[in-house]
Amino acid sequence: MDLFDPRHYADVRRPLAEAASLPAWCYTSPAFLEREVERLFLRQWLFVGRADEAPAPGDFFAVETPAGPVAILRGRDGVLRAFANTCRHRGSRLLAGRGSVRAIVCPYHAWTYDLEGRLAGAPGMDGVARFDRGSQSLVPVRIDQWGGFVFIALSDAAGTLTAQLGDLPTKFAAYRFDEMVCTRRTGYDVACNWKLLLENALEAYHTGVVHGGSLRQQIALDEPTTGDWHAIFIARDQSIAVLPDEIPPFPQVPELPGRLARGSFFTAIHPNTQFACTQDCMWWLNLWPRGPEACRLEVGTCFPRTTVQAPDFALKAARYYHRWDVSIAEDNAIGAVQQAGLRSTLRPPGRYSLREFAVHRMNNWLLDRVLDPR
Ligand code: FES
Ligand SMILES: [Fe+2]
Repeated sequence: MDLFDPRHYADVRRPLAEAASLPAWCYTSPAFLEREVERLFLRQWLFVGRADEAPAPGDFFAVETPAGPVAILRGRDGVLRAFANTCRHRGSRLLAGRGSVRAIVCPYHAWTYDLEGRLAGAPGMDGVARFDRGSQSLVPVRIDQWGGFVFIALSDAAGTLTAQLGDLPTKFAAYRFDEMVCTRRTGYDVACNWKLLLENALEAYHTGVVHGGSLRQQIALDEPTTGDWHAIFIARDQSIAVLPDEIPPFPQVPELPGRLARGSFFTAIHPNTQFACTQDCMWWLNLWPRGPEACRLEVGTCFPRTTVQAPDFALKAARYYHRWDVSIAEDNAIGAVQQAGLRSTLRPPGRYSLREFAVHRMNNWLLDRVLDPR
């Protein structure tokens, strides 16, 4: 069977009210994931974290991508760079997790790289013919930033970050993301396909069931976008980042206009990221495939710097962290349950609810790229 024959997907392509969801193999097949990596992960800008997570020279964070390990590192010159996180000698991974270094020293034979990625020392290489240290720098990876958010591109095929983000920077300018700082990161290994958690984040249909005892029912409205992202809008005149019975203790971002003051946006920034933006903070979900039926979810939370500097920040932030810990655990659990069911080869694709308009749109965005004969 040709997995990429468009006829298999004709029902996904229909208008929402007539459409059916993606075939289950899109969530279980190694070949389908391989195509997604080639068409999405290697051709698009990928969000990896915040510039303020590596504020000083030598600060770094590492990420495991479909093109292998990548490190984001601030140089002595203050510039944030990205490198393939692999030694030029025999390939050992260099940096793990996050932290700060004075130089990068390979754990295997101690080749040493400076903070700009140049090979500074390679003991025991005397006498090796035509060994040119100048050509042994760490392999650079494309990097760009917007609003303090850091993106990388794993090949030259990606266009500009600006083109990919479309109208997102304009629409969300008033949140002043530049003035926010990342206050917490959590990570989860989840037994489901990477797309399931993003799809889940783009519909509120499940909220009254999965989050019945926490967030409770939400109603999502359509939010038109241009560029490689989609969004839903949840109307509520106060932050949605605490549980519904709580009064959000932090001030709103000053001078939020119109809809930004009246609700929250849940987005999918394709291919693998969600930004959730509410009146007093934002948080992200960053998804990395670990095979077709498993993924790594990284969650980060950002508040305005002025909020974080308040003396009682930690005490109040605990209520936000609690809300996230509860709801993310609920979403991760249902993702694994859905994955378990999707292993069935007996069920034909199901129908979408009209409340899943953004999931339908996102699935079609994916097919546009995965099925493209190029
Ligand atoms: S693999 Fe890095 S020094 Fe040998
Ligand atoms: Fe959810």
